[in-house]
Amino acid sequence: MKNIGNIGVLTSGGDSPGMNAAIRAVVRTGIYLGCRVFGIHRGYQGMIEGDITELKSTDVSNIISRGGTILKTARSKDFMTLQGMEAAYRQLLKHDIDALVIIGGDGSFRGAVAFFEKYLIPAVGIPGTIDKDLVGTDFTIGFDTAVNTAMEAIDKIKDTAEAHDRLFLVEVMGRDAGYIALNSGIACGAEDILIPEEETRMDEVLERIAGDERRKKEVHIIVVAEGDDSSGIEAVAKAVSERFPAKDIRSCVLGHIQRGGAPSSADRVLASRLGYAAVNGLAEGKSQVMAGIVNGNVVFTPFKNVIKSRMPVQQDMLNMIKVLSI
Ligand code: F6P
Repeated sequence: MKNIGNIGVLTSGGDSPGMNAAIRAVVRTGIYLGCRVFGIHRGYQGMIEGDITELKSTDVSNIISRGGTILKTARSKDFMTLQGMEAAYRQLLKHDIDALVIIGGDGSFRGAVAFFEKYLIPAVGIPGTIDKDLVGTDFTIGFDTAVNTAMEAIDKIKDTAEAHDRLFLVEVMGRDAGYIALNSGIACGAEDILIPEEETRMDEVLERIAGDERRKKEVHIIVVAEGDDSSGIEAVAKAVSERFPAKDIRSCVLGHIQRGGAPSSADRVLASRLGYAAVNGLAEGKSQVMAGIVNGNVVFTPFKNVIKSRMPVQQDMLNMIKVLSI
């Protein structure tokens, strides 16, 4: 059943809490199956530059609880060129690496598709991104932790917002996806949530604030995804203050704190399952697929399907926000 000898593992794109747990699972499952496992540092850029070291079981001791990635990560422009891919391929030959596990998001899998088409190195992906914007899995590694981090921060903002009867705008991460905004906003009872998947109508946002004013509801929290089409929280703040000049408004950008910190138990378990599944998948001859969890079970989805579509947002959640915030 074992089709592989030496496995290379890398993390690529934005880091996410739980990537280390995935690396640990890949290394230990590989060793258990009789393979040697090599850590490729700084993603595809490190592959090009030969920044590659063998990982033993003890090298991944005590990393399951750590955020970030011991392998470091990068977004490599060089890997998008033929020369870059050729240099990376030579490095894999040098280390006798004949299979890859790629932990990252859609950009990382796009790189794997181009590389496989030219050099036929089998690769299995693991979804590692706080954005949860990939099809083929119900959750991505790091999403749960990021939502909890955002939720804790917004809870704190709510305390001070209530003390001063203020309207707060909170920007959370998600360049193209609104899942962190949606989930942290619902978890905090936000009055409004603005996400890229749904067109933001400022007149409706302002009308909802007016409704709260009429009901004498002083605190109003609006969670805004980074990639929302409303031109950023300062633009929203300006529109709100023009319509409600007496309203005390503050804004807060949560930023990269959402990417760090110890992974939640859900992310550690997810990362362990997917790391184990990815290596077993390679051993069974799977390639050019991403391991994911759908309805509690491990499934493998071709990279080509993962990169061509986006996970749609559930409409019932969007409808629910408007009801639960009255
Ligand atoms: O893809 C994950 C993510 O955190 C996005 O939500 C965010 O837009 C982006 O990465 C930020 O990237 P960087 O760390 O390069 O600023």
